[in-house]
Amino acid sequence: MTSPPHAITRRVLGIASVVTAMFGREMQAQTMPSSSRPNGPTKNNVRLTVNGQAHDLALDPRTSLLDALRDHLGLAGTKKGCDHGQCGACTVLVNGVRLNACLSLAVAREGDSIVTIEGLATDGKLHPLQEAFVKHDGFQCGYCTPGQICSAVGMLDEIQRGVPSAVGDLAAAPQASGTEIRERMSGNICRCSAYPNIVAAIMETQQGRPG
Ligand code: FES
Ligand code: FES
Repeated sequence: MTSPPHAITRRVLGIASVVTAMFGREMQAQTMPSSSRPNGPTKNNVRLTVNGQAHDLALDPRTSLLDALRDHLGLAGTKKGCDHGQCGACTVLVNGVRLNACLSLAVAREGDSIVTIEGLATDGKLHPLQEAFVKHDGFQCGYCTPGQICSAVGMLDEIQRGVPSAVGDLAAAPQASGTEIRERMSGNICRCSAYPNIVAAIMETQQGRPG
């Protein structure tokens, strides 16, 4: 059966936009100062600002943002599932916008503000979405959960800003339906199928926000 033209999932659009952004930033990254070690790979110096803290790193320019977070900064809350932009486990917020960290080069993120799951709590208090996921059992194994929560934070902000969803006939701001939340969160896969509880957690959180 032929799909209607508007039936493009957020995942497809997300991948396309991320790839476009990545290659644009890659051109800039090629001009960045670099250093090399004898008999070792060329390294690029990059300053990453993660959860409000600046980190100066020397990275192989092929290092993904995901590997920089996990392997160089020890922030293992961001998970690696597919490493190919298909599962959403690696979702972080870059300048407030959700992004698959496995699809972005770390050197292209210089100057950006990156927030990971470790940076959502403030003053020892969980983010409202974190509290709602606990309350509604929005997980089983928990592997997808950091990505789900970061993605939901970015998604609720998109709704507040009136960003339309990929499927144009769904309602936009200020409150999204369960159907729209499922569509907007379709880039985040849960292999434990905790979807009903994830949606319940997000619905409760958005109802607590000003409309
Ligand atoms: S690990 Fe990045 S989308 Fe799956
Ligand atoms: S809770 Fe196990 S993959 Fe989502």
